[in-house]
Amino acid sequence: MSTDLRAAAGTAPAPNGGHHAELRSVMGMFATGVTVITSGTDLPHGMTANAFTSVSLDPAMVLVCVKRSAVMHGTILAQGTFAVSILAAGQEGLARYFAHSSRPRDEREFETVPYHSGRHTGAPIVSGSLAWVECRLAAVYDGGDHSIFLGSVLGIGRGDSREALLFHGGRFIEVPERH
Ligand SMILES: Cc1cc2nc3c(=O)[nH]c(=O)nc-3n(C[C@H](O)[C@H](O)[C@H](O)COP(=O)(O)O)c2cc1C
Repeated sequence: MSTDLRAAAGTAPAPNGGHHAELRSVMGMFATGVTVITSGTDLPHGMTANAFTSVSLDPAMVLVCVKRSAVMHGTILAQGTFAVSILAAGQEGLARYFAHSSRPRDEREFETVPYHSGRHTGAPIVSGSLAWVECRLAAVYDGGDHSIFLGSVLGIGRGDSREALLFHGGRFIEVPERH
C-alpha cells in the first residue's frame, strides 16, 4: 500500500520558490526506512524521522538529523539521550502521527501509543517496531537548518515483525517479508 503524504507532512511551500521543492523531490528518490525518534522519560517526546543512518560499528555509533525548529531538537539536547524505533509495515499511522504538527506535545502525546521504556535511556520504544537503538548523545554537528546528532549506541533490540515500512517519493510503502 502507498499513499501520498505531502499534505499530512505539512510541507509548506519553500520560501525561495521551486529550488527547495526540487531538492526535496530529488532527495525523495532515495528510499529510506521510517523511524520514530524518542527522548525523555517523565514527559517523553517523539518525532518521525528518516534521516537516520548507521555510522560506525566499533565503536557503535548512529546519527539522526533533526530540524533546529523541531521540538525534538531541544529535547535531545536537554536529555542527552534518545532512542530510535524502526517502524514496521502497518505503522504508517504512527509515522503520520509523529510527523503531524497538531499532535499534543505534552503528557497526552503517548496516550494512544503502545510502547515500553528503553532499558538504557528510559525513552519510549514503540511497540511492534522492527528494531530499536538507544543512544547517548556523543556530538552535535551543524547541518544548516538541521543539526546532526551523533549517538553512541547504548543498547539495541529487535521486535517480532519482519515487514518494513519505507518512504519513497513522498509515499509510504510496505515491504513484505522475503523468504
Ligand atoms: C517520512 C518523514 C520523515 C521525516 N524525517 C525527518 C527527519 O529526518 N528530521 C526532521 O527533523 N524531521 C523529519 N520529519 C518531519 C518531522 O517528523 C515533523 O516536522 C515533526 O512534526 C517534528 O516534530 P516536533 O517539532 O514535535 O519535534 C519527517 C517527516 C516525515 C513524514
